[in-house]
Amino acid sequence: METVIYYFTGSGNSLKIAKELALRLTNTKIIRITKRLIDSEKITVSGTTGIIFPVYVSGLPIIIEEFVNRLNIPDNTYLFAIANFGESAGISLMQLDDLLKKKGKGLSAAFEILMPDNTQILFPPGTKAEQEACLKAQSEVIPDAASIIADGRIHRDLIEDARRSGKSRPHIFKPAEMAKAFYTDNKCNSCGICMKVCPMENISMIESKPLWGYHCEMCLACMQWCPNQAIQFGEKSKEWGRYRNPFIDLKEMFNNG
Ligand SMILES: Cc1cc2nc3c(=O)[nH]c(=O)nc-3n(C[C@H](O)[C@H](O)[C@H](O)COP(=O)(O)O)c2cc1C
Repeated sequence: METVIYYFTGSGNSLKIAKELALRLTNTKIIRITKRLIDSEKITVSGTTGIIFPVYVSGLPIIIEEFVNRLNIPDNTYLFAIANFGESAGISLMQLDDLLKKKGKGLSAAFEILMPDNTQILFPPGTKAEQEACLKAQSEVIPDAASIIADGRIHRDLIEDARRSGKSRPHIFKPAEMAKAFYTDNKCNSCGICMKVCPMENISMIESKPLWGYHCEMCLACMQWCPNQAIQFGEKSKEWGRYRNPFIDLKEMFNNG
């Protein structure tokens, strides 16, 4: 039976996890969650279906909620999710399970993976050594998840733990509002890579400079993949480095990649 893994990503961590998992499962297709995908017709899933996403502000990226709304889920579907994050999955898996239950079918399995943090609107990335250690640990988690998924086992402990903990989302997350803080400095050479990597097709090149629209998800793909670190968010990001998953190639981040 076919496995389809849907992923959303800004700096490539979720794509790397999707690829690692696909290597361990048979007959697997990987699809990026983009604005174009959710703007398309209803998405009918079947067989084994996975959703891999980064945690934003202790919860789900907004596009994942929109993606779930588009889904048509037959009863016998095995649904799994992998939340990845720099510190904690927060309420994201519980939130996803609740949304899916409203569509008639909750998660069969849920996993958490700690990855290098890409929140360079708030703080600098970890050192290279910290990133490498984190990525090595991550690669050891995936085989277990793959074997649970391949066997179709139920694995909901993390969801139930989050429910029991009574956690909630501490801040309101309004990415489209936050995006007003993006700007380019004089290192911008008008290459347009920011526009090509944006999963929301939210960046237009106006007079050879990027202009952000109203569909930003705060994935930070534009900021992280800019070859000149010319995209800033407020003042502090000028001093900070950037993070992108070292196993992902720029072209894999292009919208049609
Ligand atoms: C806007 C934003 C908010 C984030 N919020 C959290 C958070 O609340 N908790 C956490 O542990 N990591 C948080 N992160 C870090 C990402 O979840 C993490 O680095 C993830 O692996 C990035 O995945 P990606 O490369 O697929 O985009 C946040 C990142 C961004 C860009």
